[in-house]
Amino acid sequence: MKMWSGRFKKELDSLANDFNSSISVDYKMYKEDIEGSIAHATMLEKVDIITKEDLNKIVEGLNSILKDIDSNELEFNPKAEDIHMFNEEELTKRIGDSGKKLHTARSRNDQVALDIRMYLKNKIKLIVEDINKLINTLINIAEENLDTVMPGYTHLQVAQPVTFAHHIMAYVQMLVRDTTRFKDCYRRMNENPLGSGALATTTYPIDRFMTTKLLGFDIPTRNSLDSVSDRDFIVELNFDISMVMLHLSRFSEEIILWSSQEFKFIELDDSYSTGSSIMPQKKNPDMAELVRGKSSRVFGNLMATLNMIKALPLAYNKDMQEDKENIFDSIETLEICLLVFEGMMRTLKVNSENMREKAKKGFINATDLADYLVKKGMAFRDAYKITGQLVGYCVDENKSLEELTMEEFKKSSELFEEDVYKYIDLDYILAQRKVYGGPSPEAVKIQIDDTKEYMKNI
Ligand code: ARG
Repeated sequence: MKMWSGRFKKELDSLANDFNSSISVDYKMYKEDIEGSIAHATMLEKVDIITKEDLNKIVEGLNSILKDIDSNELEFNPKAEDIHMFNEEELTKRIGDSGKKLHTARSRNDQVALDIRMYLKNKIKLIVEDINKLINTLINIAEENLDTVMPGYTHLQVAQPVTFAHHIMAYVQMLVRDTTRFKDCYRRMNENPLGSGALATTTYPIDRFMTTKLLGFDIPTRNSLDSVSDRDFIVELNFDISMVMLHLSRFSEEIILWSSQEFKFIELDDSYSTGSSIMPQKKNPDMAELVRGKSSRVFGNLMATLNMIKALPLAYNKDMQEDKENIFDSIETLEICLLVFEGMMRTLKVNSENMREKAKKGFINATDLADYLVKKGMAFRDAYKITGQLVGYCVDENKSLEELTMEEFKKSSELFEEDVYKYIDLDYILAQRKVYGGPSPEAVKIQIDDTKEYMKNI
């Protein structure tokens, strides 16, 4: 028999019951549901809606349920409508009539809005911890590779030299931004909807400020209709998670490229690689590929949540029950991706020699050669043209720019002198890129220090 069965003459069809039930998803919020109920009951007693005796029984009953769920002694009933009904039914089973008083001045609409906020607040903290762990691992890699020269690319064509440290730190900046987004989202989530009732609060003299304090929220939400209809924070969190997944996916793509025979910039540890069932030579970057692949499902969750909400009139509609499956999936996907990605990065080997070799190819110093002529007094456009012609010549002759003889240089411009070789040397041109935010070892060292400092204040 349903708790709401009073006005019905027939029981709910069994298939309809399963269809309607959300316990297979929302059981995850059992702890938050119990905590929220204890705060609600505590407040009800304070304002004289229930007696001290009722309160004691309710708190004791709820705590015993929590203990039994934690220790697997109490199983969730798959036929229950949702976690809220399950906990309340179980409470009444255990303590009798006092249990029936718990739901006074409350609706499942404000209850679910509360539980999901509490659950997600905890998850945000864990996610930020996991991102920070990855950031620390990446910073360690960067610190060890300040001098590891690497070709920088645009259009996936060799462009200008960077270092492996600089490239890794680019991802650190993305991840640091991500943590700020979570913290911002947390701030908006940290408002207490409990007491909004079904949609229009209640006539009981409840104290929403008291439950706000008891449950560790900043303030109560300011509009009861909005409180039970609002799922913005779920969309927002889904977006914030999508953004991390987007960053991890781009990073994965590079890991996949770098570990290929064509690049050979890195070698993944055996413990984070897989083999082929037919090709004995294969060592595949499955972890990175899976992170890249899973990002699409997370983006799908974001879209699904947006679409679920877009045409709902105020206030609560059952469609909203669909919000949890998506956000829980996004959270769990992100959590495992962050952990695996961190391990994969922590154990990979950097082939610095090979990176340096690749950086020597592809006329990576062409911009610097043009800049050399500019320093000697030529206009940049003219210098650019002459350098372009020299590159064309080198392509025909199968040479690099630094292999050109002084005679060959002079044929292009009288401004070339012996010092040109120094100005187009790989290490030199890297060291010269010491502008704030640049790739020179000196500048990346500053970048790392400043990033650590910045992270302390977010
Ligand atoms: N299981 C529901 C959900 O997740 C709880 C709220 C139910 N409210 C209602 N009026 N039926 O959204």
